[in-house]
Amino acid sequence: MIIVTGGAGFIGSNFIREWLASGQEPVVNLDKLTYAGNLKSLADVEHDPRYRFVHADIGDRATVSALLRETRPRAIVNFAAESHVDRSIQGAGEFIATNIVGTFNLLEAVRAHWDLLSLSEQGSFRFLHVSTDEVYGSLAGQEPAFTERHQYEPNSPYSASKAASDHLVRACHHTYHVPVVTTNCSNNYGPYHFPEKLIPLMILNALVGKPLPVYGDGQNVRDWLYVTDHCSAIRLVLANGRMGETYNVGGRNERTNLEVVNIVCSLLDELKPRADGNSYATQISFVRDRPGHDRRYAIDATKIENELGWKAAENFESGIRKTVQWYLGNQEWVQSVTSGEYRNWMDSQYGKAAE
Ligand code: NAD
Ligand code: TYD
Repeated sequence: MIIVTGGAGFIGSNFIREWLASGQEPVVNLDKLTYAGNLKSLADVEHDPRYRFVHADIGDRATVSALLRETRPRAIVNFAAESHVDRSIQGAGEFIATNIVGTFNLLEAVRAHWDLLSLSEQGSFRFLHVSTDEVYGSLAGQEPAFTERHQYEPNSPYSASKAASDHLVRACHHTYHVPVVTTNCSNNYGPYHFPEKLIPLMILNALVGKPLPVYGDGQNVRDWLYVTDHCSAIRLVLANGRMGETYNVGGRNERTNLEVVNIVCSLLDELKPRADGNSYATQISFVRDRPGHDRRYAIDATKIENELGWKAAENFESGIRKTVQWYLGNQEWVQSVTSGEYRNWMDSQYGKAAE
């Protein structure tokens, strides 16, 4: 069996659903259930006998060690993290605690466990660390996309904390020989995405008639990948990735934020037109830029494509349509994640723009 950490979040919940659908192997989901963790995202698999949830912090070494002793997993996929750049700007404490100290404690528990395995079990064991392209910093307009050899230049507290975790994972392999692999992926989108992030926030705000807050001039570029394509990349790297290596994952789908918001608006115009006949794009509102806002991210996925044969199944047009349709069809899930803590965040981040 495998252990997934952070499986109640956006990407982890998609990964667990696909894992159970694509094979027989059981999965344990270890998650602290922060504001971003939601077991409703896994309601359809919660009674599957191959699925088990454990409510715990990756930084709780005793609990993680006991779980490792009990379950003897062949692999761990580490999704658990604080993941929102804007929150890291408002306060980075939780990012340091989970992404750096938490990852360190998790690695310590894993290392102690791995040391006691038989030689053959040691050889087949994998710790897969899920990371981000944001560790590479920001690209200028025509610069080539990030390869695995690009220098680390993290600019936000979030990306700095993820960069630190990547280094700890690397050191754990280099120093202690624990078999690790790391993936650095571009921006994901798709079902179960928490609506503090650009795409789901725009869909939800549009539907309730709120402004669509575009930071700065809206010309920042992100390289969007549909979430299940990220999950298929992780499964491939887990199966065939070379230990100690890192693999960049991205869909070659660079878009400016304004383009993305306009596409979301036109899909909503088609699928759920406004009562007054106006386009949702009339709700776009340019707001104060994010401090230190990275201009452009772009991933060169040649290594994973050539070495492991990975290819994205969705392009942006197909993926964004599925995403908008999913949000329109899953208002119950939306209601369940947009109560209490979510409203506090919207008020503190967007102030009057959120009204
Ligand atoms: P998310 O914020 O939606 O989910 C994070 C999950 O981790 C939540 O379920 C939360 O409860 C859990 N968690 C947080 N702290 C924990 C702790 N101390 N112990 C155990 N569980 C904890 O994040 P996501 O968007 O699903 O991202 C998952 C991973 O992928 C992160 O490591 C992130 O850095 C990385 N990543 C995300 C993107 C993206 O576009 N969302 C892109 C590339 C990489
Ligand atoms: P986000 O979804 O927060 O992902 P990341 O910062 O990790 O790339 O933001 C994606 C882009 O959208 C980023 O350039 C910031 C921008 N953005 C807005 O313009 N308005 C918003 O309300 C949000 C949340 C993001």
